[in-house]
Amino acid sequence: MRIAIIGSGYVGLVSGVCLAEIGHHVVCVDNNPDKIRTLKKGKLPIYEPGLLELMKANVAKKRLSFTGSIGEATEKSQVIFLAVPTPPKANGDADLTYIENVARQIAQHMDSYKLIVEKSTVPAETGKKIRRTIHLNLPKKYKSGNKILLDFDVASNPEFLKEGSAVHDFMNPDRVVIGVESKKAEQLLKEIYKPLKAKVLVTNIASAEMIKHASNSFLAAKISFINAVAQICDRVGADVLKVAEGMGLDKRIGRQFLDAGVGYGGSCFPKDVDAFIRVGEKSGYEFALLREVRRINEAQRHWFVRHIEEKLWNIKDKMIGVWGLAFKPNTDDIRSAAALEIIQLLQAEGARIRAYDPKAMDNARKVLSRNTVFCDSPYAVAEGCDCLLLLTEWPEFADIDFVQIRDAMSQTVIFDGRNFLDGTALRDLGFEYFGVGRGKSL
Ligand code: UDX
Ligand code: UDX
Repeated sequence: MRIAIIGSGYVGLVSGVCLAEIGHHVVCVDNNPDKIRTLKKGKLPIYEPGLLELMKANVAKKRLSFTGSIGEATEKSQVIFLAVPTPPKANGDADLTYIENVARQIAQHMDSYKLIVEKSTVPAETGKKIRRTIHLNLPKKYKSGNKILLDFDVASNPEFLKEGSAVHDFMNPDRVVIGVESKKAEQLLKEIYKPLKAKVLVTNIASAEMIKHASNSFLAAKISFINAVAQICDRVGADVLKVAEGMGLDKRIGRQFLDAGVGYGGSCFPKDVDAFIRVGEKSGYEFALLREVRRINEAQRHWFVRHIEEKLWNIKDKMIGVWGLAFKPNTDDIRSAAALEIIQLLQAEGARIRAYDPKAMDNARKVLSRNTVFCDSPYAVAEGCDCLLLLTEWPEFADIDFVQIRDAMSQTVIFDGRNFLDGTALRDLGFEYFGVGRGKSL
């Protein structure tokens, strides 16, 4: 199949590379010329484990190419995936101007049947609007009054990959959701995904759009639920790790997405929860449950900072070390990262910050204030610190020589925002260790 992907970010690039890997001919498009230049040089503009090797292999097999031109990609392809951003507007609505723009450009270059597929997370009914935009912008020769003389389809095929394990998630999906309005579109999409041998669920377009919103919001709700439980655990002397384990053993609940901590971040959950609240509002439904999910998530960061303040007394001029800046491990992505929000809250109180992240420091440098010191190792962070915060659970933080850390710090206090470290071992070494929801006495 000849496929174009418009938008070569975390979602588009992974999808494009993986679709090439399963045998299709894919052209990845981006309107950022630097990105296309980087990709053409055989380099990745993002960090995602396993992606570079697959990209190089498929370029070598001539199944994968890159271009800045939507026109060229449209002419070459039968199926066109849209993976451009849908960022939140001030009122929480998803901003769909990129989608509209891209749809308009595709229409202007259409010369044969095309299937246009939404991969970006979009509110229900976007499919209809894409159809209308294409209708309006088709070249004149394909229109006769209200009649359209060129066949095309719009479909929704939401992506469920997680950054950091995106290639694996794409290749091994729990399900492939296909929202279509014609048999032809259904067959084309089924054909594309056939090599994955995954369960395929066929729905109409609006249901597919809702599945994506509802799934992301449900996972976010699961995280806020366990964070609320963690708050109570802390007060009554229970251990949220044991509580999550006990809950998770019930197959109806499951252990995944029950890790309490400093709350969810990333480019999806915060934005998608906002957007779903707005979708509800516009349809006349007040989704109060999701408002609370969002509030709990925000409160979790503030609670963490207050906890640090209680321990250090005054934050002003205290030296605080931070391990982890990315919104989760195995990515360089810092969008809505809890670490950055916590650092900014601490800096507002006058804290001095020393920070380290294995992959996200270049991105963090662009947004953190100049008085953040970026260190080249977790050990360097500890020098002279009054406390250390673990905010992203990178595997390398499990392999640290804490005797060295203890000797470098001026106060031996650790706040583990991801319940990742061995608190008992740290206490034995003389640290004051605090997790999230581990019970005051633990
Ligand atoms: C994005 C959206 O944020 C998300 O809602 C959607 O589900 C999928 O696409 P992501 O891939 O993480 O997710 O975003 P990002 O890494 O910012 O990539 C988007 C890419 O689109 C960027 O490379 C950007 O340069 C490109 N782009 C943007 C275009 O090619 N054309 C445009 O008009 C706008
Ligand atoms: C998410 C969805 O999981 C994915 O299906 C969708 O396609 C895009 O959005 P992503 O944002 O890449 O993926 O990462 P994810 O692993 O879901 O983590 C999101 C955030 O939740 C991270 O900040 C993570 O640290 C946090 N999280 C996750 C928790 O705080 N606790 C958990 O138990 C799980």
